[in-house]
Amino acid sequence: MACVGSSRLCARAEKLCQFKHLAQLRRKVSTTCVKSRPRIEHPTNTLIQQCQSRTSTRDCRTNIARMMSSMQTQLPGSVHDYQIDPYRLLDDDLKDVYEDIREVLVRNTTQKELQTIATYYFDGKGKALRPMVAILMARAINYHKERNGLLASQRQVAMISEMIHNASLIHDDVIDQPDFRRGKPSINVVWSQKKVTMTGDYILAVASIMIAQLRNDNVTLTLSQVVTDLVQGEFMQLGSKETENERFAHYLTKTYRKTASLVANSLKAVTMLADADEQLAELAFQYGRNIGLAFQLVDDLLDFVSTLSTMGKPTAADLKLGLATAPVLFACERYPELNAMIMRRFQEPGDVEKAFDLVHKSQGLDQTKFLARKHCIEAMKLAQSLAESPYQKGLQVVCDLVLNRMK
Ligand code: FPP
Ligand code: MG
Repeated sequence: MACVGSSRLCARAEKLCQFKHLAQLRRKVSTTCVKSRPRIEHPTNTLIQQCQSRTSTRDCRTNIARMMSSMQTQLPGSVHDYQIDPYRLLDDDLKDVYEDIREVLVRNTTQKELQTIATYYFDGKGKALRPMVAILMARAINYHKERNGLLASQRQVAMISEMIHNASLIHDDVIDQPDFRRGKPSINVVWSQKKVTMTGDYILAVASIMIAQLRNDNVTLTLSQVVTDLVQGEFMQLGSKETENERFAHYLTKTYRKTASLVANSLKAVTMLADADEQLAELAFQYGRNIGLAFQLVDDLLDFVSTLSTMGKPTAADLKLGLATAPVLFACERYPELNAMIMRRFQEPGDVEKAFDLVHKSQGLDQTKFLARKHCIEAMKLAQSLAESPYQKGLQVVCDLVLNRMK
């Protein structure tokens, strides 16, 4: 993997990673919150200790970047060390999540067709990544606070998170008009735009009822923020910026709002429900933000390498929609002719094929993976600040799953 530390865009991205702020947060949580529980030593711990004993954040960053560039896909202290499967670990918590969501969507209306459309994507075939991470964080935080189990309210947040996600996907399908989602005809193909749009609103409305039932103002504010972020993120995607630097910042903010905010704020919400202090809530938020950003970066990368049969959608779908994601933005540094194509949103005949080719010839895909890995390492370190438990280790394994997923 090429080291991309010299890239201007990557430097900008590093700045946006708020590296220093997070290192302080990790230190605060591990000194003020972790009591006398034993810690398992592994390579990342050593790396952090080495880093913390060094004089400057820049040195630390360079060393981590160097170490990362020599690695292939395994993150330090990852799944290969622990052999934990978070989905298995949470089997009991997760097994009825989709059924419970279907039940609440059916219960809140007597309109048969609305029931059918609203439950169409809750067929149990999704990855359930959001509920899984929310429950994992909830249980890790509960354990950290020396409590066992999962609160009913925390499980509700896991369901709400998946429902908001689904509502946003339904609206997204009205905008993007795809033919398939998760290997089956997308909702917009099966029903009319009007019905599909209202169904998205209905799911969001039922999720809002569930939020209100939690009777926690801070949780309500936190989860409501997600919806404004989602709309703004989607809105930002409709526009573009003139200069390369502006474009990358625009892309990262859009990515946070469209993808990472939901994960970050859901994890913050489950942490607040555990009566945790602000530092712990911030740790959970930052873990989710990093995982969310990495997830979207990998998604944007997969758009260039996977096929209809693996991803459930055709290759280069983003380019075809006129979207310039991280691989293209990175490729622009080497092939400035991409700038004009980005500005016209790949609308001229041959633009999509040419841009696709240039991205593959450039280091854009490596650089995107590099940035995703950086966010996963950051998330991994944040998880390490929590008391050691299977759930805390599961949070680290999630970093691996996100980085190495194939679909
Ligand atoms: C998928 O994007 C879409 C999102 C992650 C969010 C879309 C948000 C809205 C449409 C705003 C409205 C939100 C609500 C809650 C009503 P994608 O097209 O990149 O991914 P895909 O390939 O899965 O379609
Ligand atoms: Mg879409």
